[in-house]
Amino acid sequence: MEDTLQININKTQHPRVQNLDYHDIQFAREYSDHMLMADFKNGAWQDPHIEPYGNLSLSPANPAIHYGQSIFEGLKAYKHEDGRVSVFRPKANYSRMNVSAKRMVMPHIPEEIFMDGLIELLKLDYKWVPDVEGTSLYIRPFLFATDEFIGVRPSQNYKFMIITTPVGAYYSKPVRVKVETHYTRAVKGGTGYAKTAGNYAASLYPAKLAQDAGYDQLIWTDGQNHTLIEESGTMNIMFILNDALVTAPTGDTILDGITRDSVLTLAKDWGMKVEERPLSVTEMVEGLQSGALKEAFGVGTAATIAPIEIIANDGIDYKLDESGREFSQKMLKTLTDIRLGRAEDKFGWNYFI
Ligand code: COI
Repeated sequence: MEDTLQININKTQHPRVQNLDYHDIQFAREYSDHMLMADFKNGAWQDPHIEPYGNLSLSPANPAIHYGQSIFEGLKAYKHEDGRVSVFRPKANYSRMNVSAKRMVMPHIPEEIFMDGLIELLKLDYKWVPDVEGTSLYIRPFLFATDEFIGVRPSQNYKFMIITTPVGAYYSKPVRVKVETHYTRAVKGGTGYAKTAGNYAASLYPAKLAQDAGYDQLIWTDGQNHTLIEESGTMNIMFILNDALVTAPTGDTILDGITRDSVLTLAKDWGMKVEERPLSVTEMVEGLQSGALKEAFGVGTAATIAPIEIIANDGIDYKLDESGREFSQKMLKTLTDIRLGRAEDKFGWNYFI
């Protein structure tokens, strides 16, 4: 690409935003008026532009379809009371996307395409950012292979895109999770830490079995012995155990969550004991039995802070008392207040558009 970035903009002639009801927002039901696109061709990034949201035309021999050479990110924009719009920690998503790109042998995305593209898109579609408590605009950047070739090799051509969608809660009520000890989400040396499509595809069948049995999601355990807790469905998982905040350390098999990092940072700032360490299923179950484990919750961009009400292990449902959700409720409120400009943004997480 040239030294200076020129994002061409083709505005829609048929905006739909006036039909959006801020008071009836569910998760990702509608997509905003515009989308950002850029192509990687002949070894260089080309033609970043914004166009009306719409379908794509792809070769049936596209390797993203056949072999899953595809990565994505998830972040959110919020509307403040004074009307300003901020995005939560976008540069952290930008960095993580390039970590995923490296693992999947995809080209590095330039910061100017990701960040300037995001800013231009939100300037155009800022009215899609809802201002009702509990809602936000979910931003989905993604990169996928676009060669026309069905041999297994890294593609030579790629498309980077950003689409956005107004969202409410991902989980509308406290979650019921089941410890998974047969199926595996990620293994050492695998792609678990990358936000790549295949990780999510592989989770669907075990998650469906759990849903058929009356649970919402799984708690994944390590692929080798199925004794250590890793993450939960679409979120990292955390516990309040013996008054400490406990979560698995990131590594090959666990997504380096940005909400995870924000929660750990705030908890340390509050003077809380924070333990990033392996936690076994046995220790978790003992904590549930003795009452030393007071809270369990998922953390993620889509899920925000999702309280867990049931943990099932070995055919037994352990219920977590609703009245014990002190830490997760305080954390959710604090994060919401920071994101909406109602509390001090001490760590500089809000990026204003
Ligand atoms: C997110 O939390 O942003 C995710 O990407 C999880 C999910 C919706 C796939």
